[in-house]
Amino acid sequence: MKVQPAAAIVGDVAVPGVKSIAHRALLLGAIADGETTIANFGRSGDTESTIGALRALGVEIDEDADDRLRVHGAGLRGLRAPAGPVDCGNAGTLFRLLAGILAGQEGEFTLVGDASLSARPMERIAEPLRHMGAHVQTTDGHAPLTIRGGPLEPIRYELPVASAQVKSCVLLAGLYAADGPTVVVEKGMPTRDHTERMLRAMGAHVQSSPREARVWPTNRLAPLEVDMAGDFSAAAPFLVAAALLSGSELRVHGVNLNPTRTGLLDVLERMGARVTIFNRHDVGGEPAGDVEMRPAELVATEVGAQEVPSLIDELPLLALAATHARGTTRVSGAEELRAKEADRISHVVDGLRAVGARITERPDGFDVTGVPQRLRGGRLGAHGDHRLAMLGAVAGLVSQQGVDVEGAEAVAISFPGFLELLESVTRR
Ligand code: S3P
Repeated sequence: MKVQPAAAIVGDVAVPGVKSIAHRALLLGAIADGETTIANFGRSGDTESTIGALRALGVEIDEDADDRLRVHGAGLRGLRAPAGPVDCGNAGTLFRLLAGILAGQEGEFTLVGDASLSARPMERIAEPLRHMGAHVQTTDGHAPLTIRGGPLEPIRYELPVASAQVKSCVLLAGLYAADGPTVVVEKGMPTRDHTERMLRAMGAHVQSSPREARVWPTNRLAPLEVDMAGDFSAAAPFLVAAALLSGSELRVHGVNLNPTRTGLLDVLERMGARVTIFNRHDVGGEPAGDVEMRPAELVATEVGAQEVPSLIDELPLLALAATHARGTTRVSGAEELRAKEADRISHVVDGLRAVGARITERPDGFDVTGVPQRLRGGRLGAHGDHRLAMLGAVAGLVSQQGVDVEGAEAVAISFPGFLELLESVTRR
């Protein structure tokens, strides 16, 4: 799919609900007592995987409308082992959070995923779950993963990698521990805290700070009416395009602004971007607002391990923004990018270099030197990764000759209508 150069991004958009919250609403709704309703549910490959996995585990889910679901909670220990494996598709969040819940169920469960998910590290969840007393087997550190719960003990776990998925997995298993608290200590900057917020709203005893999260065992979770604002990670490509294209004026309405997620705004502002936030409000116990982005001359910056978790999924887009910034931007402490849906260091470097960027690979990130003119354009491969596909599309808009995004259909993993919505605000 060829994305042609654009002159500006102009208009008002809204993006699908936060994918991370949608997964959690389904998973926690499935083990609540009673009916959880979910509004502003964003349909995507990943969220369909979570619906499918929970149905395979015996949970009833009604799809009242495209964006409204009802989950009939089976209770804390109500998931049933199906005859075959549970397919998590491409969804790492589903795989890792579900494993934490399954550690507290009766029976033996096997989790599998697609080729990309099967290449991602799973010992990082198996190890703490074993410490708690679950029987967990990986396949050379990867999926398929087989898990048999048992009596669980609380642990104090220092995250070896900054990962909200690992943190959430351990916290969810902690709901089933014989005693409390189960403590997860963050590694440096806090990772996203959607799990802690939702568990608390469902009545669980949770204490959290930027340094650590603690959960106590419970007998029941109360069902919730979950509403959610738009996904910051889905808004990010629009915001970066508007920051880079002179003449742009873009507002994204109703975006989740949980501070563990909005590091890209801080970094872009530091680089000189003109960001305004209006209409701050609360949606479902999370901060939200409208974000306006106007173009500006950007200057290079440095992003290190401390800041990485707050923009982990936006670092490919930051690399693109840095191709337009005066000076050399260095991203370091971001080796986790290699463990995402694809290796997001080597593919970002190869992809952006192929379209004309001055970018070099480092073991834990990249250096990008801005050039005064637009990127040349060319071909950028998505490698089955939705965030790389979105990167390619925005690179096309800000290029001279357009970018052929190979495998652009990967956007559907998180945002099926992305290319159409982007086109609707593009001025050529
Ligand atoms: C997610 C956490 C992040 C992020 C992923 C979604 C979540 O992964 O990259 O897209 O919903 O908890 P890690 O926590 O493993 O870094």
